Amino acid sequence: MLLDRLKEIVGPNGWTTDRSELEPRLTDWRRAVRGATPIAVFPANTEEVSSVVRACAEAGVAIVPQGGNTGMCAGAVPDESGEQVIVSLARMNAIRAVDAANFSMEVEAGCILEHIQLAASAVDRHFALSLGAEGSCQIGGNLSTNAGGINVLRYGTARAQVLGLEAVLADGTVVSSLRSLQKDTAGYDLKQLFIGSEGTLGIITAATLRLYPRTGEISTAIVALKSAGDAVSLLAQLRTELGDKIEAFELVSDYVFSLLEKHIPEARLPFTDKADWYVLMDVEMKDDRARLENALMKALETGLICNAVVAKNAAEAEKLWRMRHSITEAERAEGKALKHDISVPGSRMQEFLQRADQLLANIAPNAQPITFGHIGDGNLHYNVAIPEGSEDGELITRAIYDLVNDLGGSFSAEHGVGRLKRHYLLEYRSPAEIGLMRTLKAALDPGNILNPGKVI
Ligand code: FAD
Ligand code: MLT
Ligand code: ZN
Repeated sequence: MLLDRLKEIVGPNGWTTDRSELEPRLTDWRRAVRGATPIAVFPANTEEVSSVVRACAEAGVAIVPQGGNTGMCAGAVPDESGEQVIVSLARMNAIRAVDAANFSMEVEAGCILEHIQLAASAVDRHFALSLGAEGSCQIGGNLSTNAGGINVLRYGTARAQVLGLEAVLADGTVVSSLRSLQKDTAGYDLKQLFIGSEGTLGIITAATLRLYPRTGEISTAIVALKSAGDAVSLLAQLRTELGDKIEAFELVSDYVFSLLEKHIPEARLPFTDKADWYVLMDVEMKDDRARLENALMKALETGLICNAVVAKNAAEAEKLWRMRHSITEAERAEGKALKHDISVPGSRMQEFLQRADQLLANIAPNAQPITFGHIGDGNLHYNVAIPEGSEDGELITRAIYDLVNDLGGSFSAEHGVGRLKRHYLLEYRSPAEIGLMRTLKAALDPGNILNPGKVI
């Protein structure tokens, strides 16, 4: 029987069927869906992952890879059938090697993102992926969703942080491309198949990551503005004046700050005068903080911004970033919201917000936009709270996605598709793109055992 075989492969510490232990693995972070499973297995190494996959493939039983289960699209949660096996990478959390001279690091898929950041700083290097869930999400989950976070503006998404990858295919074959090369054009770039495919084409078991030199001193500033369009103009101005030194540039609406003040202890803006919008930024200004202050002063004088505070020390900066990273928590505490993880070209951001607010006012005047996000890279979380029992959700989401499509944007900028946005992928990608995705899925997973019901 399959369950006995799985238990044998992973050993006594490598599985659970205990209801209370399984419970947190059966629902997503947002608590949007709930599934069931007969077992969660925790392989200790790549060989065990391979044997688990082979056993499941032979039994025709589906697998759901699970990392930290912080994903926003319910991709890591099994369906309701009670038959899908959860494969958690949590025990594969070793940092295998750090090569400071080569600016690279080899890690197992279950490494917590924050541990990777710390291991990089321990050798005077920087791992350039940072997001609110970094204390619990795993690198395997980050790569499988091609996560974004706050530093994409300068360093790119998770995809850009990968030099090599190891993955287990649907028949148990291990494909290892754990090379640590900056340049490699020998054949197809296979690692890219597994990055961003949310566990539907293979299970990532290890990765070689790109490291950067440790950043110089970071100045953190918060500015108040009248519009999101002004934020886009400010970014262009600062990049022109300061060069490519801006690490993070995050937009937060005044309403979002009111949620933070309500639900997060100690969350407080450093301004007495309120504004409609705020931008929190990190700028690498090595010995030259005055240049940033001058640039912000100029923006103040021309009326582009209404106010600005540069954090005086690391503690002040950390307080500001703690607020930013608590937004999702505060939003959840307030109640259910429709999540829209969209991107549009920066130059169309202001138009997007004006038209989206107008659509919302027409469809559901009682709805409340919860707007924040990575405006520096064109990605906004235009989430919407609707009154309990409202049936406008689907209508609102569709109207927003139609608008995004019209502006040349994407309905999924960084969270992926998972289970919750699958029908939108079919609508907003062309038949040729969907056809190619289906061809890839059929070629790599002919038995449809890898995370079925997700993405495509
Ligand atoms: P999981 O949720 O466990 O899994 C996500 C998907 O990847 C699932 O489809 C799963 O099956 C698959 N998967 C997991 N591990 C593997 C593996 N080893 N091999 C193959 N498939 C696998 N996301 C952003 O992009 N930017 C943000 O700024 C951001 N901020 C967040 C803040 C908070 C407070 C929270 C709760 C979430 C945030 N997220 C953000 C979403 C989430 O943290 C990221 O998507 C994260 O990368 C998911 O990692 P995880 O380990 O939790 O993956
Ligand atoms: C964020 O930027 O904080 C996230 O991606 C999480 C969210 O959308 O709630
Ligand atoms: Zn985000």
